[in-house]
Amino acid sequence: MRILVVGSGGREHALCWAIAASPLCDKLYCAPGNAGIAAEAECVPIGAEDVPALVAFAARERIDFVVVGPEGPLVAGLVDHLAEAGIKAFGPSAAAAALEGSKGFTKDLCAKYGIPTGAYGRFRDAEAARRFVRERGAPIVVKADGLAAGKGVTVAATVDEALAAIDAAMVGGRFGAAGAEVVVEEFLGGEEASFFALCDGVNAIPLAAAQDHKRVGDGDTGPNTGGMGAYSPAPVITSAVAEEVMARIVRPTVAGMAKEGRPFKGVLFAGLMIGRDGPQLIEFNVRFGDPECQALMARLKSDVLPALIAATDGQLRNFDLRWHDQAALCVVMAAKGYPGDYRKGTEIRGLDRAAAVNGVTVFHAGTKAEGGRILANGGRVLGVTATAGTVNQARDLAYRAVDAIDWPDGFCRRDIGHRAIARAAAETR
Ligand code: AMP
Ligand code: GLY
Repeated sequence: MRILVVGSGGREHALCWAIAASPLCDKLYCAPGNAGIAAEAECVPIGAEDVPALVAFAARERIDFVVVGPEGPLVAGLVDHLAEAGIKAFGPSAAAAALEGSKGFTKDLCAKYGIPTGAYGRFRDAEAARRFVRERGAPIVVKADGLAAGKGVTVAATVDEALAAIDAAMVGGRFGAAGAEVVVEEFLGGEEASFFALCDGVNAIPLAAAQDHKRVGDGDTGPNTGGMGAYSPAPVITSAVAEEVMARIVRPTVAGMAKEGRPFKGVLFAGLMIGRDGPQLIEFNVRFGDPECQALMARLKSDVLPALIAATDGQLRNFDLRWHDQAALCVVMAAKGYPGDYRKGTEIRGLDRAAAVNGVTVFHAGTKAEGGRILANGGRVLGVTATAGTVNQARDLAYRAVDAIDWPDGFCRRDIGHRAIARAAAETR
């Protein structure tokens, strides 16, 4: 098969790495890719959001199957446009991608189908949103309705903070059209986890759970990022919790979306809060997580490609996926300053030494090759991923590889996996 992966992050490197290993894959392209992806795929300089150029390329190169990584092109209807051109693609239609593209849509769906999530209000009028916040009190959460590159959520500890978030979005236009409507939501306490399921419009099968570290600093401090590290499995998602997530969140969502005339195909990423009342939905994403995908692909034993194709073809019923018993852990290395301003173009050395650590794969995100050198070309730059018997052991290997990388302009968190490791320590005590 001739395959095109769309995207340029660590997630897409992990997908390319897994797809390139499939005996079904004859030729792999990635648009636009990065310096690491270039080892697995032929990179083509088309932006992940350039829907017409992607469709034209796929038609011209007789691509059999497109795998879309990021949410932007999914919400923009890339899969629909490819389908019109007769090209099969993994990922939801624009109508189904509303699960990520509109937080209000998702909250209404949850309300309609009894899916557990926090109480909420949807507002297009700033004064009504302010009134709701004053009535409810803090802590409370304010979210821009649309896509805001992970920056649209304010977890407000005080009423004033929530009011400021409403003003920034609805009066100040901080997120443009994406913030013209806001969702104000009950604060949920507990432990967060990411749960992934493959869906074919009718059926859903669980992939695996993972945990991400969203804050930039050790001890979960500082501003939110796209994710500074992840590991899988997530100990908080016991098999009983996983069954509950499938029964109360994933399957009702897939059934509800089908009923709404928006059948969901692709990977459903449920951001969960596991609290005293069991799992509650924080949000849906309609794609793999980054960096969760790096940990998932490292653990997947089955060929990924037949699974993605089965999801696209409506053939997931009784589909069997195998996982390695091992845990995987990914440490993200980012450019100093991220998630604020950072420099591009600094050189990264020692990648071969890092990759030589047993059980380690170094996935690239924002990198580019220039004259035989690898340069940083983004905020999140590398995803150093290790597999081992336990999260603890995987962490040790990943940091050994991180320490082999010579990149003075980069940094990483030193405590990836701390929750799982503390939990394991408590259990052996
Ligand atoms: P999101 O961009 O929706 O993933 O939200 C970013 C982060 O805000 C999440 O990872 C949570 O840590 C936090 N968050 C979002 N909604 C809530 C909520 N209702 N209660 C508590 N924390 C939340
Ligand atoms: N790591 C969280 C995300 O991909 O949204």
